[in-house]
Amino acid sequence: MILVTGSAGFIGANFVLDWLAEHDEPVVSLDKLTYAGNLENLTSLNGDPRHLFVRGDIGDAGLVGELLAQHRPRAVINFAAESHVDRSIRGPEDFIQTNIVGTFHLLEAVRAYWSGLADGEKTGLRFLHVSTDEVYGSLAKGDPAFSETHRYEPNSPYSASKAASDHLVRAYHHTYGLPVLTTNCSNNYGPYHFPEKLIPLMIVNALAGKPLPVYGDGQQIRDWLYVKDHCAAIRCVLEKGRLGEVYNIGGWNEKANLEIVHTICALLDELAPNPLRPQSSVLITYVQDRPGHDRRYAIDARKIERELGWKPAETFESGIRKTVQWYLDNREWVRNVQSGAYRQWVEKNYAGRA
Ligand code: NAD
Ligand code: TYD
Repeated sequence: MILVTGSAGFIGANFVLDWLAEHDEPVVSLDKLTYAGNLENLTSLNGDPRHLFVRGDIGDAGLVGELLAQHRPRAVINFAAESHVDRSIRGPEDFIQTNIVGTFHLLEAVRAYWSGLADGEKTGLRFLHVSTDEVYGSLAKGDPAFSETHRYEPNSPYSASKAASDHLVRAYHHTYGLPVLTTNCSNNYGPYHFPEKLIPLMIVNALAGKPLPVYGDGQQIRDWLYVKDHCAAIRCVLEKGRLGEVYNIGGWNEKANLEIVHTICALLDELAPNPLRPQSSVLITYVQDRPGHDRRYAIDARKIERELGWKPAETFESGIRKTVQWYLDNREWVRNVQSGAYRQWVEKNYAGRA
């Protein structure tokens, strides 16, 4: 079996759902259920004997140690993190606690478990750390995309905390020989994406007739990957990745934010036409920029393509259409995540930006 942390969040939930759709190998899920953790993402697994959900913190080494001893996983896949850049700017502390201190305690628990394994099992264990392209900092127009050897230049408290966690993972391999793998992926989008991030926020705001807040000039570039392609890449790295190696994952889909927002508006106008507002793009509103806003991210995914044979299955056009359709088909899910705590965040983040 495998242990997956952060499995009630956006990517972790997609990973667990896809894993159990493809394998019968059981999954133990560990998630603290912060505001971003949503058990509704895993509802389809209710009663499934292949899945066990445990609420808990990756920083609770005692709990993680018990789970490891009891279930004896062959792999630990670490998705658990605080993940939203704007929140890291408003309040970095949770990012330091979970992404750095939490990852440290998790590594310690895995190291203790791994040290006690018999030789055969020891070589089979994998600790796969899921990280981000944001650790590499920002690119200027025309700069080559981030390769695995690009120097770390994190610019936000979020990316700095992820960078620190990547360094710890690397050090545990180098110093103790822990069998680790690290992936650094570009921006994901798809089902179950919490509507505080660009793509789902724009979809749910447009459906509600609310402003579509574009930071600054909207010309910042991100490299977008459909979440299920990211999950497939992680499965591929888990099975075939070389120990201690880093794999950059991306879909060769660089787009400016404004272009993304216009694409979403056009899809909504086509798939859910509103006679009162034939063009959703009238809702686009330019707001004050994010402090320290990274201008451009781009992933050079040649290593994982060449060494492991992974390639994304979705184009941006097919993935974004599926995503918009998913939000149209799952309005109840959206209503349920828009809790009181979520509304308070929206007020705080957008109040001063007009
Ligand atoms: P998310 O915020 O949607 O989910 C994070 C999950 O981790 C939540 O379920 C939350 O409850 C859980 N969690 C938070 N702190 C925890 C703790 N201390 N112990 C246990 N669980 C905890 O994030 P996501 O977008 O699904 O990202 C998952 C991982 O992928 C993160 O490590 C993130 O840095 C990385 N990543 C994300 C993207 C992206 O575009 N979303 C891109 C590249 C890499
Ligand atoms: P986001 O989804 O927060 O991901 P990240 O900052 O990790 O790349 O933001 C994606 C891009 O969209 C980023 O350049 C910031 C921008 N953005 C907006 O313009 N408006 C918004 O309301 C949000 C949330 C993001």
